[in-house]
Amino acid sequence: MTMDSSNQVILKSADEIGLMRKAGRVVGETLQELAEQVRPGADVRDLNTYVERKYERLGVIPTFKGYQGYPDVVCVSINEQLVHGIPSSRILQEGDIVSIDLGATVEGFVGDSAITVGCGFISDEAQRLIDVARNALWAGIHAARDGVRKGDIGAAIQEVIETAGYGLVRNYVGHGVGREMHEPPQMPNYGNAGTGMRMRSGMVIALEPMVTAGRPETFVHDDGWTVSTKDGCLSAHFEHTIALGRGEAEVLTLPG
Ligand code: MF3
Ligand code: CO
Repeated sequence: MTMDSSNQVILKSADEIGLMRKAGRVVGETLQELAEQVRPGADVRDLNTYVERKYERLGVIPTFKGYQGYPDVVCVSINEQLVHGIPSSRILQEGDIVSIDLGATVEGFVGDSAITVGCGFISDEAQRLIDVARNALWAGIHAARDGVRKGDIGAAIQEVIETAGYGLVRNYVGHGVGREMHEPPQMPNYGNAGTGMRMRSGMVIALEPMVTAGRPETFVHDDGWTVSTKDGCLSAHFEHTIALGRGEAEVLTLPG
């Protein structure tokens, strides 16, 4: 999400988190199915159509469609495209790295998750970027539990990205998730350990590190959505929606 204000965190009951598992599971499963469709010669538009048909069949609401005017059900961002790529007709090429970001609304609650996958054989450099972005997300997930501070989570994500020598995108952040896709608190992918809001059981958040192989500066294309790196370097994005508890956070957007 882009940065904005307001800060009232809505805690979820165990029953509500139970409902959020349903939306999360749909997102996780569908992303896994989309990942299998990322191969040389595939048309990006078909990924969007696949989700439309599946959600229609299941009665699932595509959270992204119409969100602030977003035209489609999934975001597909290729290579130097970081996030929010509109899935127009484009044939995937061997060596592309493809970020797929998907939401689902089930029983009134949202799941939000993203993956980055290689198309066919990809360079070692591209694979390393993907691995670092995924590891950064999981460092954040492992840091997220009752009693820690917001800065502890951001610091854990930041550490992985900076240790690898990659660019850390700061102008897009993670967020709370619930009946709305974007709820407080904002969850930056950087921070100072021991500072910031106290995180609590019942908070549901999406962590979504965005990592670049070069400079971290970005721009928005004329379509009003697609965000790319300014220097044209490769980028990767991973996201999970997680529920905080006293132990390890529960990842709601796994395939199940
Ligand atoms: N995961 C993205 C986010 O949190 C999804 C928003 S894309 C939009 O910002 F199309 F729905 F806007
Ligand atoms: Co998100």
